[in-house]
Amino acid sequence: MCGIVGYVGQRKVGDVLLKGLSRLEYRGYDSTGVAYFKGAHIEVKKSEGKLRNIEEMVKRDPSADRLQCGIGHTRWATHGRPTTQNAHPHRTNHIVLVHNGIIENFESIRADMIKLGHSPASETDSELFGFLVLEEEKKGTDFPTSVQNAFRHLEGACSVVVMSEKQPGLIVGVRNGSPLVVALDPQGGAVFASDAQPLLEYTREVFFLEHGDMAIGSEKGITFRDIRTGKEVKREKTLLDWSADKLDKQGFPHYMLKEIFEQPLTMVDTLNGLLDRARTDPFPMAQQPGLAILEKAEEIIFIACGTSWHAALLGKYWLERWAGIPVSVELASEFRYRDPVVRRGTVIIGISQSGETADTLAAVNDMRRRGIPTMAICNVRGSTMSREVDATFFTSAGPEVGVAATKTFYAQMLAVFIMAGYLGLRRGRDTASKIPHIFQQLLKVPHMLESQLQQDGKFVKQIKEVAKRVVAQKGFFFVGRGYSFPISLEGALKLKEIAYVHAEGYAAGELKHGPIAMLDEDMAVVVLAPKDGWHEKTVSNLQEVKARGARIIGIGNPDDDKMKRFSDEFIPLPMPVGGESLDESLYPFLLAPAIQLLSYEIALLKGTDIDQPKNLAKSVTVE
Ligand code: AGP
Repeated sequence: MCGIVGYVGQRKVGDVLLKGLSRLEYRGYDSTGVAYFKGAHIEVKKSEGKLRNIEEMVKRDPSADRLQCGIGHTRWATHGRPTTQNAHPHRTNHIVLVHNGIIENFESIRADMIKLGHSPASETDSELFGFLVLEEEKKGTDFPTSVQNAFRHLEGACSVVVMSEKQPGLIVGVRNGSPLVVALDPQGGAVFASDAQPLLEYTREVFFLEHGDMAIGSEKGITFRDIRTGKEVKREKTLLDWSADKLDKQGFPHYMLKEIFEQPLTMVDTLNGLLDRARTDPFPMAQQPGLAILEKAEEIIFIACGTSWHAALLGKYWLERWAGIPVSVELASEFRYRDPVVRRGTVIIGISQSGETADTLAAVNDMRRRGIPTMAICNVRGSTMSREVDATFFTSAGPEVGVAATKTFYAQMLAVFIMAGYLGLRRGRDTASKIPHIFQQLLKVPHMLESQLQQDGKFVKQIKEVAKRVVAQKGFFFVGRGYSFPISLEGALKLKEIAYVHAEGYAAGELKHGPIAMLDEDMAVVVLAPKDGWHEKTVSNLQEVKARGARIIGIGNPDDDKMKRFSDEFIPLPMPVGGESLDESLYPFLLAPAIQLLSYEIALLKGTDIDQPKNLAKSVTVE
């Protein structure tokens, strides 16, 4: 959940650490800190709050050493409040460290360390690791070996990166669970980070540490050890296809807006990654690993959290209709603590943009250990989930910096859509006969959307105007049926997480089973009703809402006069120019940008921190 960066080499360490942390703030931003060598001494600068609180301190006090070496951290608090005292790096005598993840046995370690005469200065579990290293050093081992042996005492998923004043120019990083990535600086030296983004500044060739790996970085390069055996090991490089320019805001006020606008490109990239566009017949699926597993599936269980869970729900609709496969959609945090009954022939598919979400990882791994075939839909090559499952469908959304998932959701929808289309045709079901035609239409969606997703475009301007008129509503319901139901859930989640407004997503038919009691003129109901098989039913639900005086924001086809008449505000979906109709299964790809932009514009008017909403983190690597 926290962000880690480390550097040893010839570049200015303060600059490398600050730049790296700015790439990692999405992982947590309760407090920030850096530590770097000044001569034989390690200087620690830290503060509660965001990176900007330490920026000046670091710039005013650069290290002038020939060899530049330091570590940095951005924290999302788990053990101990978000104070300066609890901020990382933590110093214990000559040992200085940063940590990501949770030390589950921290209470017993803390008690043991206090018995041995140590006095923790913070409330964190992280600081205790420094005492463990000191204790190991007393046994006469060198610095890296002491870190290695200290790490063996820890229970739980975490990674640590450590420096010692007795070994200037050396950075030792250990991983067990929480991700850690390292790379060689082409100018000499090594860079460490908790994900690949900060490394892209310097290289696209990175090493993802395995569980139980240690990386020792110096100006000479990086060596790897297996901490269980203590022996040196070789690790393979991964070549990342992300370029650093994708990481900048490119003139947008927020990453979230930029990422919403990048969705047509995401669609193209993901289609190119998953389909063989040179083939048309019978289905242009590229040779994905895992096709053999999928083809044999008699049942599918999707496991995911948050937005990824919404993408999975859509998968259920598409797969059941086209492929006739029973599909269950499970919340990872519930599934892993239940006693799920999984029939033979079931395939487990974890959906996670990061591939690092603790609950999803654990739930999928439990199934893998039971011998059930496991797959993933994931946006990050080299992520833990993608390396642990039998096969992964990679989405190609590129790095997503905004904490609210937008383009990665888009890519996940597309991945499950492609799975469903492929399996439908393979199984030769009647309902699948339209699939080739639908896929031809799908290929037009990116072009259509790109022309609408322009800051000064009509679609965006209309949503901006609607947002101004509804921003004062006390609460929001997002309702829809069929494919629009998961998008309703996603709309409510987006509004909650970035605008801090109470919102609920509901199946439109469920309103009258309780929530309708809450409706009055202070409430807004966003009705997602494109012209699909559920349209008439949703419109009649809309009338129930209207009778209770709630403010209705309709989202539908531009030519839907009925919807326009019944809605107080109406958002027309982007549609093909020339009035060509689209298959109903494609509507989620048009609805998603509408609900994302509505939430974005409301948040903008409320003045919230859109890219880094309070209390959240991008990658939830704790339970
Ligand atoms: C989405 O906007 C959220 N920030 C969150 O619900 C997210 O989708 C969830 O934490 C799952 O993340 P993952 O896809 O990386 O597993």
